[in-house]
Amino acid sequence: MKLKSLKIINCNWLNVDFKEMTVQLSTSSLPSNAFFNNIYFLTKKKIKQHTDKKITYNILRQYLKKKDQILSYGCGSCHIEKKLLKYGLSVDCYDKAKNIALEKHKIKILNKKTQLKKYDKIFISNVFYSMKLQKIKKEISFLKSILHHNGKIFIFEHTMENLKFTQQLKIFLLNLIMIFKNYFFGGYQLLGYIRNNKTYIKIFELHKLKLKKKQNIGNMFFFEFLKLK
Ligand SMILES: C[S@@+](CC[C@H](N)C(=O)[O-])C[C@H]1O[C@@H](n2cnc3c(N)ncnc32)[C@H](O)[C@@H]1O
Repeated sequence: MKLKSLKIINCNWLNVDFKEMTVQLSTSSLPSNAFFNNIYFLTKKKIKQHTDKKITYNILRQYLKKKDQILSYGCGSCHIEKKLLKYGLSVDCYDKAKNIALEKHKIKILNKKTQLKKYDKIFISNVFYSMKLQKIKKEISFLKSILHHNGKIFIFEHTMENLKFTQQLKIFLLNLIMIFKNYFFGGYQLLGYIRNNKTYIKIFELHKLKLKKKQNIGNMFFFEFLKLK
């Protein structure tokens, strides 16, 4: 038996216990905008350095050049972007959520799509997992429209290929337990989906974005896509 995708259900994220949150939670619907706004508000001062972000930064540094116009789409708390800016790269940071904990970083976050220009390189780190496939298709269409010809998109996602079958089964069973616990005690939220590599690659290729590289980097997959005509 091969599982195609798995739900990510949890009761905490970014050091925030979901019971502290003031928004409606759900183990069947994806997080609302209010969920992201609220979690970033609560996580202020709680965020510690994520080790996996160092891997993402080290990979990106190999692909991004100082002359490139770069966009981080769904930048979140900007742990990666802060380092890239310090390294001398020109990066626009976009996220639909407000309240992002950035006092320390002093980075201006763009919240409106109309603020975006055309880019040579766009990177998207752990964002697509939190969207339905239909929404991903729409976002890719938009991102392609703001990417220069021969521009590149880099994706980082946790995928099924990062998990052994026993780990997949464990997550599946834990999800059932969490749905059960949520029913009685509340405090759990569906955060998104772990999908397989093929699902992501298929959507990009549908949009005439050519897969140039696919690499397992620890607990994530890294994809490089090139914009054709
Ligand atoms: C798990 S965080 C990842 C943050 C950051 N990229 C990182 O790797 O640390 C997911 C982020 O995606 C953002 N996001 C989700 N859907 C989005 C959309 N349609 N447009 C822009 N940002 C989105 C959320 O607000 C959240 O900040």
